[in-house]
Amino acid sequence: MKHFFYSLLIVVFFPLVASAQENNLHHQSSTYQWPTDPQVKAKLDNWQDQKFGVLVHWGLYAVSGIIESWQICSESWIERDSTMTYDEYKKWYWDFSKVFNPTKFNPEQWAQAAKDAGMRYAVFTTKHHDGFCMFDTKQTDFKITNGPFSANPRADVAKYVFQAFRDKEFMIGAYFSKPDWHSQDFWWSKYATPDRNTNYDIRKYPWKWNRFKQFTYNQISELMHNYGSIDILWLDGGWVRPLETVTDEVRGWGAAIPAWNQEVDIPRIAKMSREVQPGLLVVDRTVAGPYENYQTPEQAIPAQALDHPWESCITLGNAWGFVPNDQYKSPTKVIHKLIEIVAKGGSLLLGVGPRPDGMVELSEVKILKEIGDWMKVNGAAIYGTRISKVCRDENTFFTQSKDGKTQYALVCLPEGKVVPKTVEWKGDLPKKGAKMKFIANGTTVKWTITGDKVIVMVPASFAKKSEYPALAFSF
Ligand code: GLC
Repeated sequence: MKHFFYSLLIVVFFPLVASAQENNLHHQSSTYQWPTDPQVKAKLDNWQDQKFGVLVHWGLYAVSGIIESWQICSESWIERDSTMTYDEYKKWYWDFSKVFNPTKFNPEQWAQAAKDAGMRYAVFTTKHHDGFCMFDTKQTDFKITNGPFSANPRADVAKYVFQAFRDKEFMIGAYFSKPDWHSQDFWWSKYATPDRNTNYDIRKYPWKWNRFKQFTYNQISELMHNYGSIDILWLDGGWVRPLETVTDEVRGWGAAIPAWNQEVDIPRIAKMSREVQPGLLVVDRTVAGPYENYQTPEQAIPAQALDHPWESCITLGNAWGFVPNDQYKSPTKVIHKLIEIVAKGGSLLLGVGPRPDGMVELSEVKILKEIGDWMKVNGAAIYGTRISKVCRDENTFFTQSKDGKTQYALVCLPEGKVVPKTVEWKGDLPKKGAKMKFIANGTTVKWTITGDKVIVMVPASFAKKSEYPALAFSF
């Protein structure tokens, strides 16, 4: 019965929520400030070589397979079951903490699937907006180490997630939500909670807000001290920001914006964090300045190539977290996005949400594997590359090696179509007499220039293949 109820909830409400999510997307800041700390600069350059990562959303929302956290926020774009009052709904949601028991918790399976996809860095939700901690914090009892899973030897989930990815040589990112809707110092039960912001005027209760700042500092300090080496601190919830950074542009993004200063003192947090984790990349999303070491457009790809570091976070399905029967993007679609992103100078952080039992759905593993089959043989045109002088010509995208000596052309082919015998592009053309190689099998290919375009013969072993995501050439 309970199951049926959940499914009904999902079928009826999920599409509404998904389609209204524009209110909730983090946009791209319009300015970028390069870091000056040499260790941060070095890590940033190393991170820019990785190109493809996984963003794992896993928390209470997996229990019922609903949108992560937002279902308990009272903004009008969010639909929820109206047979429960808002307060009942919140209680229903908070109570997942009493049943969340991922007995099949298997971060090694996640890491293997990500590795097989060709991913090289991982970001994990240590705490989402709902405030439920996936690590053993001492600052609250609202955590995975305090429920039915507490007796499990791997109850301190974040530790084992980071370790599983580290063992496979991934760079490690800790996602942390600045807003915390479970904290009495953020959403105070004295008042209603009308939107995503603090529900009390922090100018009137500075002691309360200061306590929240200290709580945030302490939690991030725990993550920095007790969870091994961390490369990225990925701070979500950009509406929690210093009031002076709320520009007209930020207002234009459409999210409920704070009426008062909600800054949590990121400079202090970053200083402490970098003392423990030298060179740490701090990604204070959308808060342009020294603590947004790379930009993070969400579910979107910038129109042009950018010569500063950035990353698109995009879901594999429609949601960040696990939603039963979610629809996933095809391997080809993901590969095409990755190619476009890399040619524009960014990285792709692909969203995957493990099931409430602790495993990633096998249908997703299969898609990741197929992405990896392409990456394995074509990775030379992706990893460690930088933007070329021309970014694209229609469906062909260009990258180049860091030393600028090798050019790459990636021709995205339409899904479900036979591979043609020849392909052609304008823009980045081989120099006279240059040798061109087909990357997937290392063979040299024939090419000719006609007017302003190059025509390239596709090797016989690939021409007429029933389909292939993209052909990569070097010259
Ligand atoms: C947005 C959403 C959040 C999600 C994140 C992932 O910030 O608020 O729910 O976790 O994007 O990029």
